[in-house]
Amino acid sequence: MSDNRFFRFLQVRIGLDVESVGAGMVERALQQRCLAIQARDLDDYWLHLQQSAVEQQALIEAVIVPETWFFRYPDSFAALVTLARKCIAAHGPSRPLRLLSLPCSTGEEPYSIAMALLDSGLAPSSFSIDAMDISPLSIAKAEQALYGRNSFRGTDVAFRERHFSEGEEGHHLHPRVRAQVTLQVGNVLDPALQARDGQYDFVFCRNLLIYFDLPTQQRVFEVLKRLMQPSGVLFIGPAEGSLLARLGMRPVGIAQSFAYVRHEPPARVPPTPRAALAKPPAPAAPFAATPPAPAAPSPFATAPRVQGSLRPTLAPSPPARGAAPETEGQLLAQIAQQANAGDSRSARASCERYLRQFAPKAQVYYWLGLLSDTEGQAQQAQGHYRKALYLDPQHLEALMHLAALLAAQGDETGARRLQQRAARATREAER
Ligand SMILES: C[S@@+](CC[C@H](N)C(=O)[O-])C[C@H]1O[C@@H](n2cnc3c(N)ncnc32)[C@H](O)[C@@H]1O
Repeated sequence: MSDNRFFRFLQVRIGLDVESVGAGMVERALQQRCLAIQARDLDDYWLHLQQSAVEQQALIEAVIVPETWFFRYPDSFAALVTLARKCIAAHGPSRPLRLLSLPCSTGEEPYSIAMALLDSGLAPSSFSIDAMDISPLSIAKAEQALYGRNSFRGTDVAFRERHFSEGEEGHHLHPRVRAQVTLQVGNVLDPALQARDGQYDFVFCRNLLIYFDLPTQQRVFEVLKRLMQPSGVLFIGPAEGSLLARLGMRPVGIAQSFAYVRHEPPARVPPTPRAALAKPPAPAAPFAATPPAPAAPSPFATAPRVQGSLRPTLAPSPPARGAAPETEGQLLAQIAQQANAGDSRSARASCERYLRQFAPKAQVYYWLGLLSDTEGQAQQAQGHYRKALYLDPQHLEALMHLAALLAAQGDETGARRLQQRAARATREAER
């Protein structure tokens, strides 16, 4: 039933790369819509689609993936609180912080931002959140602010007691949180967004780019960068980081936050503490010089990896300084510690020692890949990423980093294939 007219329509209207969700998914949506309006065949449906804005929206609703939940990637919200405090300390209370959640789906993400900031003690007047999504249905649900079990998936749901009242139909969000968020239907590809250039201190754009092809991803990154203040912070999904380094962004260096800032704050920004926020705490990305926290640092998390998932479990504690690592876990922790401290030479030596002493491990090859990548050794990095994928075909980070390397070398087809695998791995992990 494959019909490129519809694929092109979706690509132009919402940026969807049909291969990222699979042609079968779009074909099912087309069948469903043909049935709904009783179209005779696809030609008949195409005609109707051209003439009806309502039908265009209905087809878009049928293909989008509105999957979301409260405090998805919890560490990113803790990071936001830290960064927001720094930002306020730097520019004073003269103006409220401005945040954007795009896409916001059914509201769980922007409301999590609001809850995190309120819980941290920020006054309601000190920040405001704009939230947008292309789906009017999702925005209507967000406005209703009534949530079922599926929206509360983490292990820590204490926030539900603080910010919701339970009713027969589900959990109602308190108006105090609801009031922090301005909801609006919006398309990230809409040129009208330009009117907001430079407005935001923090932008969340998570789990959207995985559905776009590389040129659209690049275009959207440029839009997002313009929407932000020069020292603004961009939060993305775990599988979406590899392109950013090549587009002039680097990780802020907070484990599992998936937060990025510009490499170089523009010269016109005075060296105020606010600009200092964007200064690299460590050598070049992606090695973040965060002191090793109890939770494993990213991307050098030492914990055993759930297939396709980036969520760490408890990491083994690192060995005492100077002591020779004894167990496999200790050696892994040491590699993470060395890499996160920017000591890539020792980290590489430890990886090699690990591979001599223990069975080959995808994560260790992935780390070697990152180390080579950071040193500009693209060929060597590719070899390591490929070994990681041989051992764990769903290793999400290896898939994404290798895709970025291939894309940088002009191998768009290879990059696209890996991105699709990464998107599938993410979906499977989320399921
Ligand atoms: C998987 S959800 C992500 C929600 C949230 N950011 C998160 O990570 O939990 C993807 C959302 O992107 C929205 N979307 C798809 N294309 C879009 C576009 N071109 N502009 C704005 N939103 C879009 C969909 O409607 C869907 O709600």
